Amino acid sequence: MPKLNILVGTMYGGALDVAEQVKPLFEQAGYSVDIIEQPSLNDVTSHDGITLFCVSTTGSGDFPGSFVPFVRSLRDQSPSLTTLRYGLIALGDSSYGETFCGAGRALDALLDDHGATRLGERLEVDAMETFMADDAALPWVEEWIESQQLKVA
Ligand SMILES: Cc1cc2nc3c(=O)[nH]c(=O)nc-3n(C[C@H](O)[C@H](O)[C@H](O)COP(=O)(O)O)c2cc1C
Repeated sequence: MPKLNILVGTMYGGALDVAEQVKPLFEQAGYSVDIIEQPSLNDVTSHDGITLFCVSTTGSGDFPGSFVPFVRSLRDQSPSLTTLRYGLIALGDSSYGETFCGAGRALDALLDDHGATRLGERLEVDAMETFMADDAALPWVEEWIESQQLKVA
């Protein structure tokens, strides 16, 4: 069974809740799914399946603390990520203005810089519009599995 990793960066649990809610959709599509709450670089360099990032933003466009070590080692070690295919769900709040979904956007740019391939568009969930992030994430993942032809079972 192919593996799919969901790498989470969260402060208050919203992004983790999204990961837990969408996990069954990938299982139904034929994947064995791991949710990784303290991701390390190894989770993307030694994994040849699909990766979904669920990352919220804190501070002024900053990464959640649990996600900082991942980003730091990506910047420091700068590995080639040309085999990484990923999707990205960014959680944020548009009342923060210019830093809206800053962490998700910065991650997307960083992954692109390292040669990774994003499948489809990034989802940006705005807490101003969507009270429960799952309400936006679940239909997005269903559509993502369909449009990217990710179904294996
Ligand atoms: C202290 C603090 C700072 C925040 N800064 C930003 C920000 O700069 N940009 C943004 O889009 N959202 C910002 N947010 C909103 C969160 O990203 C949003 O509420 C998100 O849904 C939280 O997800 P989580 O439950 O996974 O931590 C901030 C929230 C808090 C509490």
